[in-house]
Amino acid sequence: MHHTIVMTGASRGIGRVAAQHILCQSPNVHLLVVARGSSGARLADELGAGGHAVSHVVADLGSLERVRSAATEIHDRLERGELPPLRGFVGNAGIQHTNALTEGPDGFESTFAVNVLANHLFVRLLQDRFTAPARIVITTSDTHFGDFKHNMGMVPGPAWKSPDVLARTGAFPRPHTMAAGRTAYSTSKLATIYLVHEYARRLPAGIDTVAYNPGFVPGTGLARNANPISRFTMRRILPVMTLTPFATSRNAAGRCLAEVVLGTIQAPTGSYIDRNRVDRSSEESYDPQREGELWQAAQRFTAAWLPGQARSQMT
Ligand SMILES: NC(=O)c1ccc[n+]([C@@H]2O[C@H](COP(=O)([O-])OP(=O)(O)OC[C@H]3O[C@@H](n4cnc5c(N)ncnc54)[C@H](OP(=O)(O)O)[C@@H]3O)[C@@H](O)[C@H]2O)c1
Repeated sequence: MHHTIVMTGASRGIGRVAAQHILCQSPNVHLLVVARGSSGARLADELGAGGHAVSHVVADLGSLERVRSAATEIHDRLERGELPPLRGFVGNAGIQHTNALTEGPDGFESTFAVNVLANHLFVRLLQDRFTAPARIVITTSDTHFGDFKHNMGMVPGPAWKSPDVLARTGAFPRPHTMAAGRTAYSTSKLATIYLVHEYARRLPAGIDTVAYNPGFVPGTGLARNANPISRFTMRRILPVMTLTPFATSRNAAGRCLAEVVLGTIQAPTGSYIDRNRVDRSSEESYDPQREGELWQAAQRFTAAWLPGQARSQMT
């Protein structure tokens, strides 16, 4: 049956490969890509070549106002029957800054805004449009473990604090440093797992949520804001590691993401999928108290961008 999958982060890297696989493997999918600037139209044209059903909505996910307007447009198109039923949301967009001082237009720290709040607002605003069975996939990261085994010391582990602190700039020591920016990143990825656990408890039966970990995937645009040496290493040297079990190629990571999105990889709601199999995330990532607090805070942070009836859902 024809259905719609909404996807962020499809313009490049892992998401670009995944989008192509989703369309090739599932001819019944209408893929609606959310991308910033003029990249969305170009992306939809390129992905749609060969007759695939692809459309786009423009949004910079660093702005909750832009997320609201994109989600509302998608919601209205679904309601008017211009799109087939919604059966998937893929929150794959992600960002890593070189400091913890980058503030978005709503006053939130940008890593937290893009990696956590944008997904939360999409889920809230589209919640009443999902048709079961549906799957929400949020891309997380090995860095949430915070140990050497999972990131070879490249990214500091998460440093959990009250969500009111994490959501703002300067949440970590020496906030102008790359270490603080990367701590914001790993902490935001821990937050995505907390929210997946909370969604699994709160969303209606048949609307499943999973967290997807692609492993370390060198050669994508994720380190594009880093200094020239880090960028060179990420682009030219570390890709060699994809020949070892310590890293995943962009193609393999994208293919796995597509399989997670399409349900080829089966997993109960609330699962953590490490590449292509269900696994346990870090011990720290199972914490109902933090999960509840983060969910409450995310509800509060995004409340101003909700219409009245959506405010009362998912409570
Ligand atoms: N690479 C790794 O080692 C690795 C490991 C674990 C998890 N991940 C996660 O995998 C996901 C994909 O990352 P990637 O490695 O493929 O990196 P990437 O090549 O940089 O892709 C990131 C995607 O997110 C989009 N994005 C970022 N900020 C945005 C914003 N403000 N508004 C709209 N779109 C935005 C980018 O769009 P633009 O083209 O407009 O920038 C791009 O499509 C991320 O969630 C990342 O955290 C990556």
